[in-house]
Amino acid sequence: MTDDGWHKLEGISNATEKFPARAKIAGEGVLVFRTKAGFRGVERSCPHLKASLADAALMANDTVLRCANHNFTFKLSDGRGVNSPAFRLRVFEVKVEDDVFYGRWIG
Ligand code: FES
Repeated sequence: MTDDGWHKLEGISNATEKFPARAKIAGEGVLVFRTKAGFRGVERSCPHLKASLADAALMANDTVLRCANHNFTFKLSDGRGVNSPAFRLRVFEVKVEDDVFYGRWIG
């Protein structure tokens, strides 16, 4: 990890064609989505009942993620539950430098 909190993302590159893509950040399995605003990362499991978020859908112009299991929705900006305020998804920002992906947890 760098001093400013960025971690190199393992298992993802510019050659990755399928999103959401599985990757690892500091050894933890995560998912990276490609949105209209760029890449965004989340933990792999829904904070509700731990369903995989690999089948989650992007909504609201790619600003919200909806779990396919019970349709709980989360803001990709900060992970807050939209229709489920008791739950919060862990999200991270993603940057790409020289074909290397980096992630930094938010909050
Ligand atoms: S497990 Fe995701 S909404 Fe229930």
